[in-house]
Amino acid sequence: MKVIVFYESRSGNTELAARHIGGICESLGVDTSVRSVRSGDYSGIPEADLIFLGTWVDGGFYWGQRAGGRRALLQLPGLWDKPTSLFATYAVNPGKMMDRFADWATRKLGIMPLTGQAFHRNRLPEGVEDFVVRSLEAVGATVDWGV
Ligand SMILES: Cc1cc2nc3c(=O)[nH]c(=O)nc-3n(C[C@H](O)[C@H](O)[C@H](O)COP(=O)(O)O)c2cc1C
Repeated sequence: MKVIVFYESRSGNTELAARHIGGICESLGVDTSVRSVRSGDYSGIPEADLIFLGTWVDGGFYWGQRAGGRRALLQLPGLWDKPTSLFATYAVNPGKMMDRFADWATRKLGIMPLTGQAFHRNRLPEGVEDFVVRSLEAVGATVDWGV
């Protein structure tokens, strides 16, 4: 099982979420790479069984929330029909950002959206483990904690 975690992050919160996701994948024995979408390293996508793609919530805090950093995310090559779990970090209220992010990433990057979750920036890593397990199971992985 191969996983790539791509993230876009201005102030580090989404990068931290990405690193938590990557750490949990690795602890489960999954071959994992964590990279900024700005890194220019897009190798391994064809072989990946699952992509995680994350960014930050941009909006008016109580209205109009959508995916931040869309220009940076568009540096990714097309992820045509790649099973992709989306994540985001936010400060106050993600609103409908995750639905919009899924629509946008499907149209612009060609992903196959599996699941998605927004994480409060101050509560990480709360919920990350469940999100990772849900995502791995969605692509048919059997999650064994080795206990
Ligand atoms: C321009 C701008 C707009 C934002 N709009 C929202 C918003 O509408 N709702 C919200 O909950 N957080 C909003 N935030 C907060 C960020 O989503 C949050 O701090 C996030 O964790 C930043 O991630 P990063 O550290 O990876 O850049 C906004 C931040 C910026 C810079």
